[in-house]
Amino acid sequence: MNPLQSLGLPSVEADMALFEPLLAESVVIGDTFLDGITTHLIAAGGKRLRPLLSVASATMGAHAATRNDLLGGVAVELMHLASLYHDDVMDEATMRRTVESVNARYGNIVAIVAGDFLMARSAAIAADLGTPVSSLLAHTLARLTQGQVSEVRTSFDANRTVEDYYEAISGKTAALMAAACRVGGLTSGQSGQDLEALTEYGMSLGLIFQLRDDILDITAVNGELGKPVGQDLAEGIYTLPVIIALNDKEVGDELRRLLGHELDDAEREEARILVTRTSGIKESLAEAQRHVVRAGEIASSLNNDDLSRGFENLASSLLEDLPL
Ligand code: IPE
Ligand code: IPE
Ligand code: MG
Ligand code: MG
Repeated sequence: MNPLQSLGLPSVEADMALFEPLLAESVVIGDTFLDGITTHLIAAGGKRLRPLLSVASATMGAHAATRNDLLGGVAVELMHLASLYHDDVMDEATMRRTVESVNARYGNIVAIVAGDFLMARSAAIAADLGTPVSSLLAHTLARLTQGQVSEVRTSFDANRTVEDYYEAISGKTAALMAAACRVGGLTSGQSGQDLEALTEYGMSLGLIFQLRDDILDITAVNGELGKPVGQDLAEGIYTLPVIIALNDKEVGDELRRLLGHELDDAEREEARILVTRTSGIKESLAEAQRHVVRAGEIASSLNNDDLSRGFENLASSLLEDLPL
């Protein structure tokens, strides 16, 4: 997946080159220990999808981003980054962005407080951008956290419903993508229908993005993701493909017996293969494709043809390179 390429807006590519140093300097305060921790994942890479959405929404690829457009992207990416620090503690993850996760390298306590620090940096930058951005990001963090809490509430629950699933992913992933687009709309002075359309597009894209991530947890080849496959299964997060598989007539009961507690490597692989023997992946993909259609419709309602095309392309590209 290469979001910048899918978007196909050359000026945004130039903007993102300027974004990078702004992001890097936004977390450095001259405390060698803390700086090492807060720059660990920034240096490791990442797609910068959310700031890309902010910048594209702000400029529509028609002109260079302003400093405030870029800073909006920094505030959003820092909130994303902080959520990864915390998420990896919650998920007991060992790898992130192909390197050791912060919790694995520095321990849970450091990962939690460093995540808080990143959140605080995000909030400070948002405050400089004015009340609408600041308020949006505060509400977004509440929704993201709510999504994460609802996921925890239903962890290891083999009776988790599709509704539970959507409640979790709308909050934990889609709310921040929606905010990423909306921040760009705000820093560039948009309002009314345009601002709502950008926000709705981000929401749809976020749902597609998380469905993709959850399909990949089952279908990816180890080493491809920068994190181990079957991690969600092992940690008790039963995503849409798994919920569908649990209701399968042939293997549902067998899978149910296996799940409900933490899995060792052999059990994780067994469960993963059981899921692949059902229509779980196919149906989840069809579901994601419905959101791609929706995202395309919203994108085409935007008042700039280049952005409409770029956003449509970006949404469909998320399902194009999946190993099935
Ligand atoms: C990871 O997001 C968290 C999810 C919402 C699945 P990304 O896949 O955008 O992470 P980076 O920023 O590229 O590392
Ligand atoms: C992503 O959660 C959402 C947040 C980080 C808030 P996941 O747990 O599904 O993401 P990965 O798989 O660790 O990237
Ligand atoms: Mg995780
Ligand atoms: Mg998680």
